[in-house]
Amino acid sequence: MKVFVTGGAGYIGTHTCVELLNEGYEVVVYDNLCNSSVEAIKQVETITSKKITFIEGDIRDTQAINKALEGCEAVIHFAGLKAVGESVERPLDYYDNNVQGSLSLFAAMKIQDIKKIVFSSSATVYGDPKFLPLTEDHPLKATNPYGETKLVIEMILRDLYNADKTYSISILRYFNPVGAHDSGLIGENPQGTPNNLMPYISQVAVGQREHLNVFGNDYDTPDGTGVRDYIHVVDLAKGHIKALKSLEKAQCEAINLGTGNGYSVLEMTKAFSVASGKEVSYKISPRRNGDIASCYADTTKAKELLNWRSEKTIKEMCEDSWNWQMKNSKSLS
Ligand code: NAD
Ligand code: UD1
Repeated sequence: MKVFVTGGAGYIGTHTCVELLNEGYEVVVYDNLCNSSVEAIKQVETITSKKITFIEGDIRDTQAINKALEGCEAVIHFAGLKAVGESVERPLDYYDNNVQGSLSLFAAMKIQDIKKIVFSSSATVYGDPKFLPLTEDHPLKATNPYGETKLVIEMILRDLYNADKTYSISILRYFNPVGAHDSGLIGENPQGTPNNLMPYISQVAVGQREHLNVFGNDYDTPDGTGVRDYIHVVDLAKGHIKALKSLEKAQCEAINLGTGNGYSVLEMTKAFSVASGKEVSYKISPRRNGDIASCYADTTKAKELLNWRSEKTIKEMCEDSWNWQMKNSKSLS
């Protein structure tokens, strides 16, 4: 089966391409490289010893995407902008890229009569949790434009299915993806100062940054620091293969991809220190605006519908992040 992967040159996309190729799928990556490089595609080919068809293009270009989709049977849709702070400053760019881009992709899929799609959503759609662990029927509420774009796209997909029950749609709500492929050839390469915890910790450990700012130690959590559900990106990638296989049957399902376990900022810092053998200095700073105390998944639905569960431990997440950081810190600095 030929699978069309938008945003396939990015962090989660490259790891998913590895799993797709290993499972024998043909892969077409469509990416405008606004947050990635073609090198990452080459690394995927090195890891798998298989070829990817790469097309440089923008999902908002319906004509180009329509042509690129020819012969494909299913779509995995990663392409999008994902920085929360930036989305608050540049909301129009986020709605244009993420929502307009998705509409353009769905229109092209309709022309090509492709009705199978796996979409990258986020746990951010749950807003401030009313209860934990988060089940898929928890009320939905966005707290920033990035989150709004995910909610709108989810709604569009549900409406598409309601209008035509032959669609097969898997909406995957990721918790906190971290880690890298154990080859150290692909991983997350944030531009500028990282917003997310793990890349920041890695850069402190490798000596690129002086210390980590821990955003608040007065939350209602065991050690006062924020608790999240960190999931290894390779586990996440494998979840996409399971989701793709589930699309044999027409459906529209939103499914959490997390581990079900929460770890605090201090626990992650300690685990990274052990994995890297480096001290990770930190200072307690004020809370970050918009942050919540705790967030972790109920993973029952993923087990039941996809027969998927995460396998990798926090230790492996930290070791693989460190391996990636060590192999790439020259080009990052
Ligand atoms: P990423 O930035 O590494 O990958 C996104 C890819 O999409 C990039 O290669 C980028 O060049 C491409 N892209 C962006 N806009 C495009 C456009 N208009 N046309 C074509 N290509 C375009 O991000 P990622 O971490 O791999 O995230 C993938 C998806 O998962 C995103 O939709 C993101 O919102 C979602 N997600 C990510 C996380 C996370 O923490 N990484 C968490 C929840 C959800
Ligand atoms: C962020 C995004 C969310 C996205 C998720 C996964 C925000 C507000 N939310 O969530 O939309 O789905 O990433 O990519 O950006 N922390 C520090 N110091 C740092 C960085 C983080 O203490 O330098 C803390 C945070 O306060 C939080 C935890 O580490 O408690 C995790 O932060 P982060 O990696 O940014 O993820 P989220 O806040 O869950």
